[in-house]
Amino acid sequence: MCGIIGIISREPVAGRLIDALKRLEYRGYDSAGVATLENGRLTRRRAEGKLSNLAKLVETQPLEGTIGIGHTRWATHGVPNVTNAHPHATKRLAVVHNGIIENYRELRAELEADGARFETQTDTETVAHLVTRELDRGASPKDAVEASLKRLEGAFSLAFVFDGDEELLIGARRGSPLAVGEGEGEMFLGSDGIALSPFTDSIRYLEEGDFAVLEHGRITIYDEHGAEVTRPIKRSGGKSFYVDKGNYRHFMQKEIYEQPEVLSHTLSSFVDMTTGATRLPKGQAIDFSKVRRIALSACGTGFYAALVGRYYFERYARIPCDLDVASEFRYRESPLSDVDLALFVSQSGETADTLASLRYAKAEGLKTAAIVNVVESTIAREADLVFPTLAGPEIGVASTKAFTCQLMALAALAIRAGVDRGVISGDEETEFTRILAEAPRLANEAIRLEGAIEALARKMATRRHALFLGRGFSYPLALEGALKLKEISYIHAEGYAAGELKHGPIALIDETMPVVVVAPHDRSFEKTASNVQEVAARGGEIILFTDVKGASSGIVDGAEIIAVPEMPEILTPIVYAVPLQLLAYHTAIQMGTDVDQPRNLAKSVTVE
Ligand code: F6R
Repeated sequence: MCGIIGIISREPVAGRLIDALKRLEYRGYDSAGVATLENGRLTRRRAEGKLSNLAKLVETQPLEGTIGIGHTRWATHGVPNVTNAHPHATKRLAVVHNGIIENYRELRAELEADGARFETQTDTETVAHLVTRELDRGASPKDAVEASLKRLEGAFSLAFVFDGDEELLIGARRGSPLAVGEGEGEMFLGSDGIALSPFTDSIRYLEEGDFAVLEHGRITIYDEHGAEVTRPIKRSGGKSFYVDKGNYRHFMQKEIYEQPEVLSHTLSSFVDMTTGATRLPKGQAIDFSKVRRIALSACGTGFYAALVGRYYFERYARIPCDLDVASEFRYRESPLSDVDLALFVSQSGETADTLASLRYAKAEGLKTAAIVNVVESTIAREADLVFPTLAGPEIGVASTKAFTCQLMALAALAIRAGVDRGVISGDEETEFTRILAEAPRLANEAIRLEGAIEALARKMATRRHALFLGRGFSYPLALEGALKLKEISYIHAEGYAAGELKHGPIALIDETMPVVVVAPHDRSFEKTASNVQEVAARGGEIILFTDVKGASSGIVDGAEIIAVPEMPEILTPIVYAVPLQLLAYHTAIQMGTDVDQPRNLAKSVTVE
């Protein structure tokens, strides 16, 4: 969840370290720091809070040096303050770290008994002292790091620079991603391709247990046994995906607006638009007629996408599905004998719980597939099959375009599965794919409702709690709408299946409780309408997301209604996500919160 960058160059590096951290700030933003070697001596600048604080500090106290490392932090061990900010240093080295060193307490006790003096509450400082002890015993930097890695437990990536050595940068990964890049006369280390994209498009991803020694003109990669290995260069065209907000106020707003375009990109990798036939991305073959049951798992918004996926696979392909939040999948110890496919959904492809689930499924002998947005990610590399969403880099912490693209991929896969299993005919397939191709236009129409939604958000921002209700395909949307609202506006929100209202939550209804109802005029509309009446009868304030037909049904007097165009049922989760995202976005703006970087959250959750 933290961001790491390292550069060896012949030019000063401080400015570019800060620039790279800007691209990594989505991974963590409670403190940041850089270290370079000025005339061979380690020098650090660190600041609490946003990266802009560090940038200001480096402006007033510039840093020389042609080699350096940088870090943007999402705190796990130790409060976010300057002392706990990375890089952590001893007289011999500086280190930045992403992940968790699980055995740091015992290592710290051992090192303190050996005379090491700790300054911070972090697990990372243990690594600094461990490697320093090896150096003090006469080991070379490479051997010192290699020996220390053997003592560490947990999931992490690390980058080191060494006092007195302007020619050496060492990186290591276990559990958390780390990429190595090669430029003209320069070498780079970074937590992901986005960090390195303006510098080079020649990127190698370290594999589990690898460590890399970067010197001028040379990168040497070793595997977990210390054997020299080669890792393939990926040319991602990275320089072209430089990420900025353009004319938008926030990344989240930009990403909401990008949905029509990225939905159509995503669809194009699952449907041949000239014939209307579904297809699977190149090299990712699966015959769904042989799949008796699918086990789906994911976290957060990805989990709600998977919940929609379950509805899709069960209704359109008649494949029974299990669904778990990824952090629970392995603990349930479910008998998996009739599961022929374990399917994971993840934007980042790095979420620790989802990755652990994937590894559990593989260990159980299951065929695995992943719907991921970052195709170079660990989950994408470890899954047997990869179904990419083509949402492009998602920077806002609250997932928007990745979610709707996940839904698009799931819908297309479910149709494909229905065809494989003979429950969808060729004509029906073409009709379904024609319908899916309508999603970009409808998402665009939903975006145009922004003005009306902004007005509703002003009222929502005066409330402390909210309920979200939906039935059928709209139930996962109620959950997602509530998650979006709470994570960026900090208003307490809960999503419920509309039918559950009377089994408890109805006790919360009074005139201060807004109830957001997602109810397209579909097969469950009338039942949801009854639930709306139950809320109205108790004085609850109703905000209804429906379509033109639902709006004209006279569902309840006095409800605030946002009406989207009518559409076939398969599209409703994709399109109704848009107004829910806009409601959360504008409520957060009214509340004055930090929309793209809400408190306590990080974009890529690489700890369990
Ligand atoms: C919410 C959000 C998170 C992520 C979750 C899983 O807006 O973004 O709930 O969905 O952390 O992340 P990925 O999809 O990267 O595995």
